Amino acid sequence: MPEKVLVCVAWPYCNGELHIGHVAGAYLPADVYARYNRLRENEVLMVSGSDTHGTPITLRADEEGITPREVVDRYHPRIVEMFRRLGISFDLFTETDTENHWAVTQDFFLTHLDKGYIYRDTMQQLHCLNCGRWLADRYVEGTCPFCGYEGARGDQCDNCGRTYDAIALLNPRCKYCGSTNIEVQSTEHFFLDLGKLNEPLLEWFKQEDKQSWRPSVLNYTCARLDSHELRGRPITRDIQWGVTLPLPGYEDKRIYVWYDAVIGYFSASKEWSALVGAPDAWRAWWQDPSARSYYFIGKDNIEFHSIIWPGMLMAYDASLNLPTDVPANEYLNVEGRKLSKSRRWMIQMNDALDRYDPDPWRYALAISAPETQDINFTWEEFVRRNNEELVATWGNLANRVLGFAYKRFEGKVPQPGELDNTDRALLDQVEPAFRRITELMDAVKLKQGLTEAMTLAHETNRYLNAKEPWQQIKTDPQAAATSIYVALKVIDSLKTLFAPFLPFTSQRLHSYLGYDGDLFGQQYTEEVVERERSHLALRYDASTAHGRWAPSDLTPGQALRQPGPLFVKLEPEVAEAEVERMGGAA
Ligand code: MF3
Ligand code: ZN
Repeated sequence: MPEKVLVCVAWPYCNGELHIGHVAGAYLPADVYARYNRLRENEVLMVSGSDTHGTPITLRADEEGITPREVVDRYHPRIVEMFRRLGISFDLFTETDTENHWAVTQDFFLTHLDKGYIYRDTMQQLHCLNCGRWLADRYVEGTCPFCGYEGARGDQCDNCGRTYDAIALLNPRCKYCGSTNIEVQSTEHFFLDLGKLNEPLLEWFKQEDKQSWRPSVLNYTCARLDSHELRGRPITRDIQWGVTLPLPGYEDKRIYVWYDAVIGYFSASKEWSALVGAPDAWRAWWQDPSARSYYFIGKDNIEFHSIIWPGMLMAYDASLNLPTDVPANEYLNVEGRKLSKSRRWMIQMNDALDRYDPDPWRYALAISAPETQDINFTWEEFVRRNNEELVATWGNLANRVLGFAYKRFEGKVPQPGELDNTDRALLDQVEPAFRRITELMDAVKLKQGLTEAMTLAHETNRYLNAKEPWQQIKTDPQAAATSIYVALKVIDSLKTLFAPFLPFTSQRLHSYLGYDGDLFGQQYTEEVVERERSHLALRYDASTAHGRWAPSDLTPGQALRQPGPLFVKLEPEVAEAEVERMGGAA
């Protein structure tokens, strides 16, 4: 029975280019998991979009001297382009500044209000006496009350990751005018009553099997819920950009970006349904209790996805599915330093794709994914992995076997003779490898899954070194045919095992092996969706996909196609040049 799998991916702030840390932390693992499930013949719905609201966008607009909407128009297409180049196969990648998203968000708001999960209260807010503005979220900087970091923002500290109320900041400075002449004043806002949701959340959290969650997410969530200290959180702001409040008298306020952004998972599912002409299709992923949902996010977003969003969902409509898992990732540092645009230490994904193919990036970022701890990416390692693992271990394996078969066996999969113990020993590794990797992938241990696939590639090289079909053919062509047949079978299986990680080269290999059609469908459409206002949507249509997560069923006699190299070797000097380039890039 195919299962419904909802793959939700953090909505990137649409205020700049995405870098390799974003990709390693959310988009790539989500895509690998989605592609794996599609190969399993599960029905995947993978959604996200540009997070277009809040002070991250308005601050960028201030810096560039353009409007917030112009910021979105500048960066959203760049983000879409990057996903397409890297093969991140969103069923829908949309944005939050759409009519649909506004309508769904306002419906959440009114429903929460109506059911008593939103209340009104006055709160203390920082107000700049010099320029007369309210200092929401990122409009104030100061010293973190927890770790002492001096560049902490009003909503979160980038250094220790804690969230707090802006009035807790020490030595606050206004981001508009630089003044420290700041006063605490009261202002009226709407609050999501998380206190009321503490018990129901705890019940949900304890009742189901959360033991498979990553320890960092599990422990954090458990501690927060167990403390019984959830309190109301303001979900409106004194700013002029964002979803408007669906109530008269609040024209100067907007819904807080974090309240609307998480709703995006739901609104995007509805938008996708409308786009495919089946307006109720989303229900299968959101209301069928057997459907599973996964939220791929960075570690700074855990609380929003493991506590606040489930709380918002249960308060909105008890029939909606709560997250099955929240596989949050840690950070990817580069050459020992945190990626930072302002500190001029950056590898933008689009820029990196100008110089290197997508699959080597996908490989490098998946094999050392920050699943359970921060990972340090180095260019030297990127080059080494490309050359030793992709080119030497996997690419050459596929290439020399296919090339030999193509030349020496009339371009066909040769007919094997009787298999000996060595042949059988290798073939016998395929099924257990599938079983182990399936288990790992299901548990979202993607990095281990990839490592296991690489191990099978190593075993296949060892087999060929023992058999040496290029020698066998001189004295015993039948034995050579058998070895090449066995190797091709395993290579065909490896193609599938690598496919979620390396979709571009697996597709090429698929074609060299003589198959027609697409493993994944490969049909991207970018469309401008127009109603009262238009927006750009990226869609991947997997309906023509025919890849299957199963050992090879390649048969003797199948006509091969002339193979070419899957990967290119990089010169070791590349690493040094790239490190140098990073300091200059912003
Ligand atoms: N825009 C946020 C960030 O980049 C992530 C939002 S995830 C969402 O940190 F689901 F809430 F949208
Ligand atoms: Zn000011």
